[in-house]
Parts: sequence; C-alpha cells; structure tokens
Amino acid sequence: MLTVDGLSVRYGRSVRALEEVNLEVAADGVLAVLGGNGAGKSTLLRAVSGTLALHRGTITAGEISFDGERIDKLDPALVVRRGVVGVPEGRQVFARMSVEENLRAGGLGAKTSGERTAARVRVRELFPVLAERADQRAGLLSGGEQQMLAIGRALMSGPRLLLLDEPSLGLAPQLVGRIASVIREIHAQGTAVVLVEQNATMALQVADYAVALEVGRVALSGPAPELAASDEVQHLYLGGHAESDEQAARDRQEAERHRSGRRLARWTA
Ligand SMILES: Nc1ncnc2c1ncn2[C@@H]1O[C@H](COP(=O)(O)OP(=O)(O)OP(=O)(O)O)[C@@H](O)[C@H]1O
Ligand SMILES: [Mg+2]
Repeated sequence: MLTVDGLSVRYGRSVRALEEVNLEVAADGVLAVLGGNGAGKSTLLRAVSGTLALHRGTITAGEISFDGERIDKLDPALVVRRGVVGVPEGRQVFARMSVEENLRAGGLGAKTSGERTAARVRVRELFPVLAERADQRAGLLSGGEQQMLAIGRALMSGPRLLLLDEPSLGLAPQLVGRIASVIREIHAQGTAVVLVEQNATMALQVADYAVALEVGRVALSGPAPELAASDEVQHLYLGGHAESDEQAARDRQEAERHRSGRRLARWTA
C-alpha cells in the first residue's frame, strides 16, 4: 500500500537525515519504526505526510507511493485526501479549543458527511473519555488524554494509513498499554499503521513488521516477532529502558548467576 523507495532527505544543505531508505507497508499491516534519538524516524513520517517543507527539509532522492501513485510531491492536505494522516510527535492539540472543536477540525478532511459521522462514532467508541470531556479545553486534559485526542482527531478524517510519531512518549506504563490496545483496535478496524517508537517492547508487540533506523539508514528489518527475538534488537533496543524494573532486576540476577557460574567453572577446570 505504501512504498518508500530509495528515499534520501536533507535539512538545509548539510544535514543528511535519511539515506536511501526502502520500506513497505501492507494495506492490513502495522509497521514499527524503531531507532534512537536523531535516527530519522520523524523525518520519515514527515516525508510520507508531505510536511518536510514545513521543517525546511527536502527529498533529494527516491520516491514515495501510496496505492501505486506518487505522493512525494503533493501538498500535505492532498496527502490527507488520499487517506494518509499523521499524528506528529508531542501530542499536538489545539490547547484553547474544546475537545469537541479539536475533533471537528480533524473531520474537515473527511470527504462526505456520512464518512464524518462514521468517524465520529468510531472515535467515541475508541475513546469514551473524549466524549465525557467534549466541552473541556484540550489544554486542560492529561498527557494521556491529549495523546488520545491527537489520535482521535487524525481518525476523524477516515485515514487508510495512520502515521503515529512516538505516541507512548512520556506516558505512564498503564497508559502505554492503553495506547497499544487502541492501535491494535484501529488496525483491526482496517486502518494500516506506521508506528514510530523508541519503546521497542511496545512497538514490537503491536506491529507485524519492523524496521530499525540508525543515522538515517535502515539497519535492520523483518517480521516483528523475529526482530523481537534477535540478539541484536535485544541488545540495542530492548536492553534497559524498555523493560520493567522487575524484569531488569531479574536480568541482573540472571547475569550475576551466569558470571559466578563461569567463575566456578574456571576454578573447577
Ligand atoms: N528541522 C530540522 N532542521 C535541521 N535538522 C533537523 C531538523 N529536524 C531534524 N533534524 C536532524 O535530522 C536528523 C533526524 O532527525 P529526526 O527528528 O528525524 O530523528 P528522530 O529519529 O525522530 O529522533 P527523536 O527520537 O529524537 O525524535 C537529526 O540529525 C536531526 O538533528
Ligand atoms: Mg522524532
């Protein structure tokens, strides 16, 4: 459904943010994009959503196609019309507008009023809390609620492909789980998803395929369960921050047992 072919992106003259990136997203797929700070994850989403120019970025090589048609030269609004909608990093909501007004603004991208109504119902079911807070100013919502509003607003235009930039960033573990199940549900309802995450544990649980970016290049790619099990991903992306404290403590104990076992083996040898 989405094809990124040989994509290279620069900011200004010198910053090379992406280098010959290739990837695909199936119509019924969830693609996780992993990678550390500055790897180029947000740049990738900006390129797909047509918003690079707003950040003074330009595509220097490659193509992006959606449903077989080039979208890399389209204005952001036209990309949304095609059904590709992004939720940028940082839970961006219109803080002074009510929850309801935020959602209505998202619905402006819908093609027909029937679509708008269907999207409305979908958002209400996915995020009951937003219906409860309809008249509240978005700026007064909690971080988790703002993230849900940002996702809800994107869903209002009935996307076929949703681009999420670090939706779990800064949220408590319980809320990260809630976001994960929302993404699963959105996918089950027929919307493909590109999920950018530093939280590799969460992303690999939700996605069916994953790529890892390192300084602008695809360093690893494969089916999510395979990557989750690979030593390289364990070491680079699942070591430490992604696991729970409890798990980390168990890992340390295990490593300690290993080390003393080795010492013992040496003594007895
Ligand atoms: N507007 C910009 N102008 C110049 N350089 C930029 C701009 N935005 C990003 N960059 C640079 O491009 C590279 C990729 O940045 P990008 O924001 O895509 O990374 P990221 O993987 O999303 O990182 P993070 O996890 O911190 O959000 C980095 O070297 C970054 O400093
Ligand atoms: Mg980013």
